[in-house]
Amino acid sequence: MRLQKFLARAGVASRRHAEELIAAGRVTVNSAVVAEMGAKVDPATDAVAVDGAPVALPEEAVTLMLHKPAGYVTTMSDPQGRPTVAELVDVPAHPGLFPVGRLDTDTTGLLLFTTDGELGHGLLHPRQHVTKRYLALVEGALTEADARRLREGVTLEDGPTLPADVRILADAEAERAAALIGDDGASSGQRQRHGGKRSRAALAQGGTYVEVGLREGRKRQVRRMLAAVDHPVIALHRQSFGPLDLGELPRGHARRLTDAEVAALKAAAR
Ligand code: URA
Repeated sequence: MRLQKFLARAGVASRRHAEELIAAGRVTVNSAVVAEMGAKVDPATDAVAVDGAPVALPEEAVTLMLHKPAGYVTTMSDPQGRPTVAELVDVPAHPGLFPVGRLDTDTTGLLLFTTDGELGHGLLHPRQHVTKRYLALVEGALTEADARRLREGVTLEDGPTLPADVRILADAEAERAAALIGDDGASSGQRQRHGGKRSRAALAQGGTYVEVGLREGRKRQVRRMLAAVDHPVIALHRQSFGPLDLGELPRGHARRLTDAEVAALKAAAR
């Protein structure tokens, strides 16, 4: 980055005034005066000072998406010593990172992390209604009548649910859902109940793949909604969060969102 841009970004001066500071010999890079225009600095490694006072860029907020595997608790530390999602993101590189909401230990898929409190809390605010899309494998043959009940809203112990998007997946869509849910979406307990080592495809023969889009985020909501229509969840995966889709991100991997993705998320949270 050019030195005058660095100084402007750091809030020391306008770009024009920064050039004047440089020309006046008041700026040092790694203790050496740099008086020529156009010199470059690396904000990660170079020490820049003006009149001897160190100058740094403001901390930039970071937002990441993680493809959460099953078996990880959504918390940054667990007193019981269970595996946590914090092990899957680079916390030392991004102090202050926290998960935006939670996925159950057995749920896989898109989990956001951010250091931007305003964005994180904005996305979680009950009034935001950012749509989250889930793929679920449920027990039994879920019918169109069940789907209609779910769409209209079912009454849970903490009150009625808002209208939801619910689609029964068949054929290629069901196969795609099976691939996305993957092999670790059901807990070992669930596998026991559903036939020990039977493959996911075999499980699906007696089950149904559904897509559920929710604009609210109550605790274990998808599981409780599907149980309320007598189709308990075998495996659950979150494929998208507002404008963001998990895409091809491999399970267990995290990536930083692009500026465009952060802008889209902020627009969705507004
Ligand atoms: N709904 C659930 O039931 N579980 C999750 O992890 C997310 C949404």
